[in-house]
Amino acid sequence: MTASATNDIIARAVEVLKENDQGAYTVPTKGLYPFQWNWDSCLTALGLAHYDEARAWTEIETLFAHQWPDGMVPHIVFHVWNDGYFPGPEVWRTGRPTATSGITQPAVAGFAVRRLFDRARDKTLARERASALLPKIDAWHRWFYETRDPKGEGLVAIIHPWESGRDNSIDWDDAFERVPTEGVEPYIRRDTLHADPAHRPTREQYDRYIWLVQHFRGLGWDNARLHDASPFQVVDPGFNAILIRAAADLADLAQALGDTAIAAANRARAEKGLAAMERLWSDAQGQYLCLDRITGKRIDSASVGGILPAFAAIPTARAQALAATVERLAANARYVVPSHDPGDPRFDAKRYWRGPVWLVVNYMISDGLAAAGHNDAARRITQSSLDLIRESGFAEYYDPLTGEPLGGGRFTWTAAMVIEFLRHAS
Ligand code: GLC
Repeated sequence: MTASATNDIIARAVEVLKENDQGAYTVPTKGLYPFQWNWDSCLTALGLAHYDEARAWTEIETLFAHQWPDGMVPHIVFHVWNDGYFPGPEVWRTGRPTATSGITQPAVAGFAVRRLFDRARDKTLARERASALLPKIDAWHRWFYETRDPKGEGLVAIIHPWESGRDNSIDWDDAFERVPTEGVEPYIRRDTLHADPAHRPTREQYDRYIWLVQHFRGLGWDNARLHDASPFQVVDPGFNAILIRAAADLADLAQALGDTAIAAANRARAEKGLAAMERLWSDAQGQYLCLDRITGKRIDSASVGGILPAFAAIPTARAQALAATVERLAANARYVVPSHDPGDPRFDAKRYWRGPVWLVVNYMISDGLAAAGHNDAARRITQSSLDLIRESGFAEYYDPLTGEPLGGGRFTWTAAMVIEFLRHAS
C-alpha cells in the first residue's frame, strides 16, 4: 500500500474514533452500543494512543474507576441513561454507584497497558498512569482465579456467553441447552432495531442470556456463589489465553515499575495457566477446544476461540499447528480468520460469532503468530483485515466468504485495530 493510501485509511479510522469519543470513554458504535464496553475500551486505547496518549490512558482508567470492590471489572459501564440498549441497568440491578452489568469480559487490559507503556512517547506520563493501574489489574486477575477457578485448576470458566465476548458462538450451543427459559420476564430487544435480525443471536438464545442474568441477580451478584450456582460453566481457551497473556504482560510491566510482588504473582498465574491449557488441545482439530466444566467434557467445536491462544506464549508446536490451521481456513474462506470453521455444517457466514470475521480477534492472533515467527500466517491475517476495510469500511464484523460488512457501522475497535495493523505494516 502506498504511504498516501495508508495515511488516508488512518485518517478515516481516527475520524471514527473521534466520532464515538464521549470525552473519557468511547462507545463501540452509536445506536447499537451506547455505553462503555470492557474489552472494546482496552483495545481502543491502542488506537487512541496513536494521536493522543493521555486520552488513551483515560479510556482504561475510566473503565477501572468502575471496578467492583471484589476485583471484578464489569463488561458494561452504563455511564448515561439510554433506552436504546437491552438489557439496561434496570435488568442488571447490580446496585453499583454508577450502573454496571454484573459479569465480566476478556481480560485484555494487562496486555493493552503494557503495550501503551512500552510504546509511550511520554515516559513520565506512562510511568505515572501505569503505576496507578497496576494494582487494579492485578486485583482483577486475582479475582478471576479465585472466583472462576475455585478448584485451582489453572483455567477460569465463563458463566455467561457474553463474558467470552463471542456472544452466540457455536461453542456454547450444547451447554446452553442446560439453561432454562422458564420465568424470563417479558422484554423487548433493541439490537434488532439497529442491525439485521438474521445477523444477530436468536430469540431463544436471548431468553437464555436473560435467564442467567435474572438467576445471578437473584443471588445478589455475589461472586463467591455465582460460579458454582451457574448451569453454564465453560472453559474457553481464547478467554484463558487472553488472561494468561495479560498476566505475563502485567508481570513484565510490574518488573519494570519495581513491584516485584505483583510481578511474581502474575508470572505464576501465567505459568500455571499455560501448563493447564494443554488439556484443551485437540490434535484432530489442530486447535484448542472449549471444556464444559459441568460435564467435564471437551466441546468439539472448531471456533476461533481455539485459535486465539496463539496470543499467549503457547508451546512452539502448538503455535505452528495454529498457523497451519489459519492457512487451511484461508483455503476455504476468502477472508481470514472466520469465527467458525466454514467446513462445519453449523457455520453461518453472517450471524455474528458463528462465522463472520472480527478484526479484534484477527489482531490478537496475528500478534501472537508474528511473535512466534509465523510471519506468513500473520501477514495473511493482516492482509485480509486491510482488504476488508478497503472494500467494506469500518464494520462491526464481516462475511468471510464475500466480505460484506455486517452488524453496526463506523465501529470503534475495528478502527483502532486498523491503525494498529497499519503501524505494524509500515
Ligand atoms: C458484542 C460483542 C462483544 C463486544 C460488544 C460491544 O456484544 O459480542 O464482544 O464487546 O458487542 O462491541
